[in-house]
Amino acid sequence: MPVRFGVLLSGGGTNFQAIADNVRKGVIPGEIALVLSDHKDAYGLVRAEKMGIPHIAMLRREYKDSESYYRAMIEKLDAAKVDYLLLAGFMRILPAFFTDHYKRRILNIHPSLIPKFSGKGFYGERVHEAVIAAGEKVSGATVHFVDAGCDTGEIILQREVPVLPDDTAETLAKRVLETEHEIYTEAILRVLKEDQR
Ligand code: GAR
Repeated sequence: MPVRFGVLLSGGGTNFQAIADNVRKGVIPGEIALVLSDHKDAYGLVRAEKMGIPHIAMLRREYKDSESYYRAMIEKLDAAKVDYLLLAGFMRILPAFFTDHYKRRILNIHPSLIPKFSGKGFYGERVHEAVIAAGEKVSGATVHFVDAGCDTGEIILQREVPVLPDDTAETLAKRVLETEHEIYTEAILRVLKEDQR
C-alpha cells in the first residue's frame, strides 16, 4: 500500500506546497490523502484545490468543545486512511488523545533551532522577531515528532540558517522558510526509511 499523508495547515501552505511538489515528482513515495485546515480562508486550501488534492476546512467554532473538535478531526483523517500526519504551519496545539492516536506518526516543522525559541507563544513571525531581538547570529529550522507537549517531541532533523546584520523578521523568515522546504522532505524520507515504508 502506498504511504498516505495527511496535512494540517492554518495559512499560506508553502511547506505543504514543497512537500506536494516532491510527492508529485516521486521524490517522496506515496500520496497526500487529505489536507485539513482550521481556517476556511487558508491559502493552503487553494493550493490543494489547484493540485487536485482532497481538502477540507474544519472550524473550531462549529464544534461544542475542543474534545469533540479534535475527535471529529481524527475521524476524518482515519476515514482518509492517513499513515502520517504532517503539520505544515498548523497553529494549534494538539491534545494528548490526538497525539497518542498517531504516536510517532505526526511530524511538525518549526522555524527555529528547538529548544531555542520554541514552545507556547513561539510561532510564525513571532519566532523570528524574538531571534532578532535576542541578537542571535544563527537561527534555523527543526522537524520533530509531535507529542502532547508544545514543540517537545523528538527531533528528526535540524538545520542552521545565518541571521544577517540587517535582517528583519520578514527577511529572516523568508531565508528560514527556504531551509524548511528542504529539510521537511529530508525528514519525511528519514522517517519512512526508519519505518521501512
Ligand atoms: C513556517 O515557518 C512554519 O515553520 C511555521 O509557520 C510557517 C508556516 O508557513 N510554523 C510554526 O511556527 C509552528 N509552531 P507555510 O504556511 O508557508 O508553510
